[in-house]
Amino acid sequence: MEKKILIATYSWSGHTKRLADQIAKLLPGADQYQIAVPAGTYDLTDMYATSDRAKNQLATGELPPLANPIPELDQYNLILVGSPVWSG
Ligand SMILES: Cc1cc2nc3c(=O)[nH]c(=O)nc-3n(C[C@H](O)[C@H](O)[C@H](O)COP(=O)(O)O)c2cc1C
Repeated sequence: MEKKILIATYSWSGHTKRLADQIAKLLPGADQYQIAVPAGTYDLTDMYATSDRAKNQLATGELPPLANPIPELDQYNLILVGSPVWSG
């Protein structure tokens, strides 16, 4: 069976996305999935407002929906997940 790789990343300001793009170049044939939330969920000009919003979402359990449909995960043998550190 063909081995498939998925690179799934969330990126608020683009750093993680750039790394994912570089990793994808090293793994020809790997699929990329952009974990994303609807526009307006976070203020992309204010990391402190974003941090407050995210903490509130965690505290209340009211998590934002995903903007992109999740790919069929069964087809992958390896899934690389990347994200920025928030409140680490
Ligand atoms: C809401 C928020 C919270 C963050 N909290 C931390 C943190 O606790 N520790 C840290 O080292 N960086 C923190 N950062 C910085 C990001 O992890 C860092 O800038 C990362 O490279 C951003 O990746 P991105 O461009 O893919 O979003 C935070 C950034 C944001 C927006």
